[in-house]
Amino acid sequence: MFETPLRQIKKYLSKEIPSELVGYLPEKWEKIGDVLIIKLNENLKKYQEKICKKYGEILRCKTVLNDFGGISGKIRKPGVEIVYGSKNTETVHIENGIRYKLDPKKIMFSSGNMDERIRMANISGKKENIVDLFAGIGYFTIPMAVYSKPNKIFACEISSIAYEYLCKNIVLNHVTSIVKPLFGDNRTKAPKNIADRVIMGYINDTYRFLPTAINCLKNHTGIIHYHDVFPNELIPDKPIKIIQETSEKYDTKARLLKYRHIKSYAPGVSHFVFDIQIGER
Ligand SMILES: C[S@@+](CC[C@H](N)C(=O)[O-])C[C@H]1O[C@@H](n2cnc3c(N)ncnc32)[C@H](O)[C@@H]1O
Repeated sequence: MFETPLRQIKKYLSKEIPSELVGYLPEKWEKIGDVLIIKLNENLKKYQEKICKKYGEILRCKTVLNDFGGISGKIRKPGVEIVYGSKNTETVHIENGIRYKLDPKKIMFSSGNMDERIRMANISGKKENIVDLFAGIGYFTIPMAVYSKPNKIFACEISSIAYEYLCKNIVLNHVTSIVKPLFGDNRTKAPKNIADRVIMGYINDTYRFLPTAINCLKNHTGIIHYHDVFPNELIPDKPIKIIQETSEKYDTKARLLKYRHIKSYAPGVSHFVFDIQIGER
């Protein structure tokens, strides 16, 4: 009879740890390439090596990381520690036919954003110029370059670690002729008056980068994919108001095309993306 990996793990570990702790074993995980990320309950601390070894073996992962602190800071560094396996945590994660090289110990990869990465892959026209203001390791840039084949994508990234992987992923996915990586703060590095579309894949204070995004657009006209977190009941009025007010300062207009819920962020608060038409079309 087929046994799920979780059943196999529980069956084995129930002989290895006190029975009252079996209920604390993690029932979900993130598998990034061959690196596994799990969240261990404090009560399991004493047995963590044994537990992580079993998860690693059954789920065929070279390293198991314990996620002790979520994602923090502007550059979104994960709070994880190695509990089992190889100290070399670099891996290649394949999603939607795209190869993302990264080190999950240093860089986040949010599986909750997968649908949006797939949507972005096919959204651009062939003649478009795009600016990705928060490129990371190429989450949106690479699938868009591979599947939409636009004229150019300018991909800005401020973290040296993420930038290094962005450059590697451009080569790994054969899109060097489409993607131009730009290292540094997008407010000084992003090209102006060139883009048909701007991606703002960033949360918490995205509004501060709206002037940069509008200035990237050709004649202040084009589409902005605006991400941020908002209380659910303020959607879509609050973000639209923010974007319209900034647009007016640049003598242009903003109109909502559509919006999508990406994932829940906190009780009653979610991460959304808004597709906004700036200027007349
Ligand atoms: C949250 S990550 C991107 C997540 C991604 N959209 C996804 O699907 O998982 C945002 C990236 O923006 C970068 N970043 C933050 N502020 C920046 C700035 N001012 N200029 C350029 N990049 C910046 C961070 O280093 C990080 O790699």
